[in-house]
Amino acid sequence: MKLSTKNKTKNIIGVFDSGLGGLTVLKNFLKFLPEYNYLYLGDNARVPYGEKSTEVIYEYSLQAMEFLFSQGCNLIIIACNTASAQALRKLQQEYLKQNYPDRKILGVVRPLAEFAAESKKDIIGIIGTRSTVNSQAYDNEIKNLNKKIKVQAIAAPLLVPLIEEGWAKKPETKMILKKYLRPLKTNKIKLLILACTHYPFLLKDVKRICGKNILVPNPGEVVAQSLKVYLNNHPELGLKKTKNPSRNFYSSDKNGLFKKLAEKFLGKKIKEFKSANLNDF
Ligand code: DGL
Repeated sequence: MKLSTKNKTKNIIGVFDSGLGGLTVLKNFLKFLPEYNYLYLGDNARVPYGEKSTEVIYEYSLQAMEFLFSQGCNLIIIACNTASAQALRKLQQEYLKQNYPDRKILGVVRPLAEFAAESKKDIIGIIGTRSTVNSQAYDNEIKNLNKKIKVQAIAAPLLVPLIEEGWAKKPETKMILKKYLRPLKTNKIKLLILACTHYPFLLKDVKRICGKNILVPNPGEVVAQSLKVYLNNHPELGLKKTKNPSRNFYSSDKNGLFKKLAEKFLGKKIKEFKSANLNDF
């Protein structure tokens, strides 16, 4: 891997995900913090991350960070739960400290765990990729905040490929989702954290299956609210609101599926869409 030459920051917030999923987070940034410049990177060529080893997830995430910093990002949000759970700490403690001490990388596990702990619910369900569940990142963060909360985590490895394929609305996907949620309902969870950025594409169905006794927050909204507070507390990052903020989209894949699905989900045309060769970083 070659480290980029130290370039200047360009007043941009980078949003990284293994694929399309991070758009569910970006959509909420655009809604609640619209005045900032954003650059989205989806590693669609290598998705899913959820079944890969910690080493590979770290390597891929590192390349994504290098790419986003080379584009001038002041701050990067790792929207991907899998990368947040498996790579974030090492990226912050080693890579960032040595290479970009004046910039920041944040993940999504902490804000969602804080939301869970503050909800006052005693049994919390987590649904995520196998890698996120095996890392126990959520269990640990939530227990650190409140030892009394019980956490029930299940892996739902079939959902990401179905969503990346554009199958979110198909009856087969709903059937699989129902099967995954059954044990959590049986165990009487009171709050469900969608611990994978792809799953909010199924938010309506999840809410319907969970019924009114289980609170299902929109994770992107929780992360956006937490980012709002963070930006207020960290003026030293130099991120400024602008009148004509930019939105740039990069995918590591070269096909048009990402653009098509992203436009459909965000409900707007994407003008700046480019492909990024992450292996060069
Ligand atoms: N979107 C990622 C997450 O939030 C995972 C999807 C994948 O397996 O790559 O966990």
